[in-house]
Amino acid sequence: MNNDIDTNVSNGTDNELENGNRDGNNNGIDPRNTLNDLSSKEWVAETVSVWIQKGLGANHEDAKIERQHPAPFSFTDVSRLIRFFTKSGQTVLDPFVGVGSTLKACAIENRQGIGFELNPRYVELTKQRLEKEVRTLFSTTNSQDIQTGDARLLVKNLEENSVDFVVTSPPYWNILHKQDHKAKQERIANNLDTQYSDDELDLGNIQEYDKFLEELSAILGDCSRPLKPKKYMAIIVSDFRDKSKYVMFHADLARSLQMYGLELKGISILYQRHKRIFPYGYPFAYVPNIHHQYILILQNIKK
Ligand SMILES: C[S@@+](CC[C@H](N)C(=O)[O-])C[C@H]1O[C@@H](n2cnc3c(N)ncnc32)[C@H](O)[C@@H]1O
Repeated sequence: MNNDIDTNVSNGTDNELENGNRDGNNNGIDPRNTLNDLSSKEWVAETVSVWIQKGLGANHEDAKIERQHPAPFSFTDVSRLIRFFTKSGQTVLDPFVGVGSTLKACAIENRQGIGFELNPRYVELTKQRLEKEVRTLFSTTNSQDIQTGDARLLVKNLEENSVDFVVTSPPYWNILHKQDHKAKQERIANNLDTQYSDDELDLGNIQEYDKFLEELSAILGDCSRPLKPKKYMAIIVSDFRDKSKYVMFHADLARSLQMYGLELKGISILYQRHKRIFPYGYPFAYVPNIHHQYILILQNIKK
């Protein structure tokens, strides 16, 4: 097996093969670039399929609010995605916005964010976060739009073809109910949330995996109506274990979204180098420390 085998070949239908590199004027930004505000050099770095997750560090002053939420993603990783998949001033939707990492990134990157969140406490924390972590630095929050409620309903209010990019990290089924290791015990000891809510509308409270997958796919599928044609959706997910079984959630979700016209274009690995490791399985069986997430990149192929 050749370790250097080139897996970057396609059937020649993608523009990247044809376009080559024609920038040179306009600060290195090709005038035909309708996707983002990046030069080819900046562009290429973002297409490498392994990223190292960059957080602020648990002790950073600006990590205090996000810590209240059991599963925030890092706003710096989301900023990278936003810079790649939109131009300045464009509109970004996160249907599961949690404590507002996407909206913080949008405010800093001068994009218009729309976020949905079921738990009113996280909506309140998002508002505090934008006020404290963005306004003090940039004297603006660009009036980010956070809406409280069920994403199933809120997405229906959005106008067709009004969104340029969807980026989100949904609940990973009900794994917050299952995880039972030291990290969870520490959150309990510090009086921090260990699950999103008790609300039956919360996708994290659905008992059956197939039903969860169906409902999540329907919500993300509905996001393709406000998402403009040919625009992208990035979904950050992780695989997980269900008792002794390994569940390929990222693959199940990507497959399930095909029927909504969301076509998988690539997957990036988000390496979580900072995550603690535990001696799962020792000394009897192989049990992985799952140290990465997947960024599924899908394109809205509707006409
Ligand atoms: C993985 S978290 C998102 C975290 C977010 N990326 C952040 O950085 O804070 C998933 C979020 O989805 C929310 N959620 C679950 N079911 C929902 C629903 N039906 N409608 C809207 N939000 C929902 C949960 O309350 C939780 O905050």
